[in-house]
Amino acid sequence: MWLNIKSFEEYQNIYRQSEKDRLKFWEHEAGTFYWRKSWDKVHSGGFEKGDIKWFEGGKLNITENALDRHLNTIGHKTAFIFEPNHPDSFRRTITYRQLHEDVCRFANVLESKGIEKGDRVCIYMAMTPELIIAALACARIGAVHSIVFAGFSAQSLAERIQDCDAKMLITNDGLRRGDKHVPLKDISDEALESCPTVKNVIVCQRTNRDIDWKDGRDEWWHNLIRNASKRHTAVEMDAEDPLFILYTSGSTGKPKGVLHTCGGYMVYTSYTFRNVFQVEEEDVYWCTADAGWITGHSYIIYGPLFNGATGIIFEGTPTYPDAGRLWEVVEKYKVTHFYTAPTAIRALMSYDLDYVRKYDLSSLKVLGSVGEPINEEAWHWYNDHVGGGKCPIVDTWWQTETGGIMISPLAGITPTKPGFATLPLPGISPALMDENGKEIEGNGVNGNLCIKHPWPGIARTVWGDHERYLKTYMSAYKGHYFTGDGCRRDAEGYYRITGRVDDVLNVSGHRLGTAEIENAINEHPNIVETAIVGYPHDIKGQGVFAFMICEKDPKDPDAFKKEIHDLVTKIIGPIAKPDKIQIVAGLPKTRSGKIMRRILRKIAADDMDNLGDTSTLLDPSVVDDIVAGKAI
Ligand code: WT7
Repeated sequence: MWLNIKSFEEYQNIYRQSEKDRLKFWEHEAGTFYWRKSWDKVHSGGFEKGDIKWFEGGKLNITENALDRHLNTIGHKTAFIFEPNHPDSFRRTITYRQLHEDVCRFANVLESKGIEKGDRVCIYMAMTPELIIAALACARIGAVHSIVFAGFSAQSLAERIQDCDAKMLITNDGLRRGDKHVPLKDISDEALESCPTVKNVIVCQRTNRDIDWKDGRDEWWHNLIRNASKRHTAVEMDAEDPLFILYTSGSTGKPKGVLHTCGGYMVYTSYTFRNVFQVEEEDVYWCTADAGWITGHSYIIYGPLFNGATGIIFEGTPTYPDAGRLWEVVEKYKVTHFYTAPTAIRALMSYDLDYVRKYDLSSLKVLGSVGEPINEEAWHWYNDHVGGGKCPIVDTWWQTETGGIMISPLAGITPTKPGFATLPLPGISPALMDENGKEIEGNGVNGNLCIKHPWPGIARTVWGDHERYLKTYMSAYKGHYFTGDGCRRDAEGYYRITGRVDDVLNVSGHRLGTAEIENAINEHPNIVETAIVGYPHDIKGQGVFAFMICEKDPKDPDAFKKEIHDLVTKIIGPIAKPDKIQIVAGLPKTRSGKIMRRILRKIAADDMDNLGDTSTLLDPSVVDDIVAGKAI
């Protein structure tokens, strides 16, 4: 039987059992799936060598667990409700049986185009059912999907395609997000100029706008599926075969291709979805994320499907056509479980409460938060005005690399606390570390958050760069996985994530590397050097602050700021645009040439009284100049 924790006491018992015999705990969980052949070994490897394996030798196809397994029991149940960008556009529901057929059809299409097990396929699409069908079809034939958020620029898309040598790109003609139009096919065409490995492009029609066409390379989705069979035998995979790559920003260099494998990811996303959200038979679950991020992978696509849930695919934005959109959708579909990011809540808090009050939200049972620390004000607004004071809020802490939720309340089962992700899930052992690399025991303490033992959902490598995987996650604290987050464990033992301690920013729940933005800005001919730091931002959580040294003082600061914005949009995407720019004569550097970001962070946060020790700087006077200067 699937583990479904039903009381706080049970949680505590199971947590203890899982600590005593971790392998037995995970083996039991894995046993609830359909395996064509059982595993030879539950687990091997560890953080020392980064050679972690789970359920090795087990044979399966993840889509048989997400789809085929349900056909005889809940084939007619709705798997997805599609809610388009504009409330008056065509909406549809898709049953498990239909989804299975659509995935099989598209799997046949992919095979007919020569895509084989192990090949990489890049998906750059609008949030429509076809995105999910494309991803599942890849999984069904054993191809590795790499979904790129359809807000990234041509250059970012190209970089991601090149890094994994994708053979195919699946995209749309374009998409609409709110009142904006994004010409996905044009962007793809531009990206593909530097991507010789891509031989085929499949274009799914969404906006019907004019697009360029490259005969022999481009084909319409609707033409290809027309004659494809709805039957397809899933390709047998080993538990440790790759399932997908998802690029995410790190503190240095270019984005990392985080790799997840079939068996462990399946077990982990399914287990966490079931126990954290406590979704029941008739419930309607809505995660507002985009499938281009890990939240969409784990908690729109995979986790809910393994559990036979009904989910919503939402193409729109929280403020289009107005700030009541999310609540309108909740009322319309009688949503019971609602999972979103603090930045969306903070954005909606700034509008009139009538946008919320207008709608009947009484169907809601559980609220979720993900992506960044949720401030108490937003927590209370969410709790009072959306949840009506009766819905537990699951503040779920996790990362692209963890595959699924790690620290979180279990809805209605374990306690909640505003601003706290609370307690680790059974099977997960967090540790707080001090600056000397020693574990800090006891409660009422702060430290850097690590995880002590491998769990099935952990990423297995960084695509093409295992060294970087070891260096980023497994070298800071020997024998531990380092998360990059700071954390408090309060007097009661509850965990509160306090934010990144590395050079990674979290802007509106999106992860951005300071180095990535700096490199983009440095492409500007008038820029000598840039330092990016985050600063507290009312809605985005963190804003992007750029300190830059210019060759010549720009004549028109506003025009200059726009040039920087355009450049960052072109190289990365609009999400990385700096909110504030300050031109400086010099940057605070140590004698060894390292930028002292600590000082810049304080200046950006307007916290000038306590700049700390500046005596180790090469030239302490630059700090006074920066403090005296002004951002544009
Ligand atoms: C980083 C991971 C997890 C899916 C979305 C983001 C921050 C995530 C929380 C939370 C405080 C959180 C952390 C983490 N974060 N969830 N509930 N409370 N911080 O995935 O892009 O891989 O980013 O997001 O800083 O390290 P991601």
